[in-house]
Amino acid sequence: MKINPFDNNFGAEITGVDLRDTSQEIKDAVYQAFLDHQVLVIRDQELSPLQQVAFTEIFGELEWQENAQHSHPEHDKVLVLSNELRPDGSAVGVVDAGDFWHSDSSHHEEPVKITVLQSIRNPKTGGDTEFCDMYRIYDALPDDIKAKITGRNAIHHVSKALNPRVTISPSRPGAADFYETQAKNRAPVSQPLVRTHDETGRQALYASPRFTLKIEDMDDAEAQPLLDELFKYVTDRKRPYHYRHKYRDGDLVMWDNRCTLHRATGGYGLPDIRRMHRTTVIGPKAFFKPAA
Ligand code: SIN
Repeated sequence: MKINPFDNNFGAEITGVDLRDTSQEIKDAVYQAFLDHQVLVIRDQELSPLQQVAFTEIFGELEWQENAQHSHPEHDKVLVLSNELRPDGSAVGVVDAGDFWHSDSSHHEEPVKITVLQSIRNPKTGGDTEFCDMYRIYDALPDDIKAKITGRNAIHHVSKALNPRVTISPSRPGAADFYETQAKNRAPVSQPLVRTHDETGRQALYASPRFTLKIEDMDDAEAQPLLDELFKYVTDRKRPYHYRHKYRDGDLVMWDNRCTLHRATGGYGLPDIRRMHRTTVIGPKAFFKPAA
């Protein structure tokens, strides 16, 4: 197995490994590279849905799928992300997954730590995933901003209908009703704005334009400009804390949601098809621990 780190050590390519081998030796080597680089691009994989589940499960318990109607028919913990349509016009997979910067399931009490995304079919153009290093963003924040957010919590919610920072994709059938129903039925979740990584001990900014709506115990007049300021580090066009992945056939990408954000960049459309298989590992609950 060979590990080729990307710029600034953020992200790495791994070659020479077959992830159908779920031995302790492979698990340890992949997991250490994952903690060191936050995003791994593992080349030349061809895992069936069951094999992808077997690989993901070596790192922990798999998450239940919110969009169950888009689970893979061979395994309900594999979510299909795709723009394909069936002859009756219904969507094969989630069509608008990840279109704004986020950390997966930060709107759950126990958010996702690992996401595994296997590219099954790549479009001729577009379809990249972009990642952002939230350790480095936290480190780059001015002291006065760090002082304002450290030890504070923010409110995360899944519904796009509650979030003026995002728009609802016109390509998702029934999207407006779907997000309105979520707005009524799903509870908000409180998360620390600065998250201490439970394994590396490093601090990361833990907020996203997609899911973070408010700062607890702070008036919106102060909180919204502060969130805008924080999100500039994520959306800044110069992208100094970022890695953008262009998929090759056989790529399997896995990332650490405790210290990164990501977004699907789009840029493709039918008849060009993008299809990904996604599995996710739950937990732990996010927390903040002051540096010693
Ligand atoms: C996701 O947000 O989990 C998927 C990102 C992508 O499809 O590029």
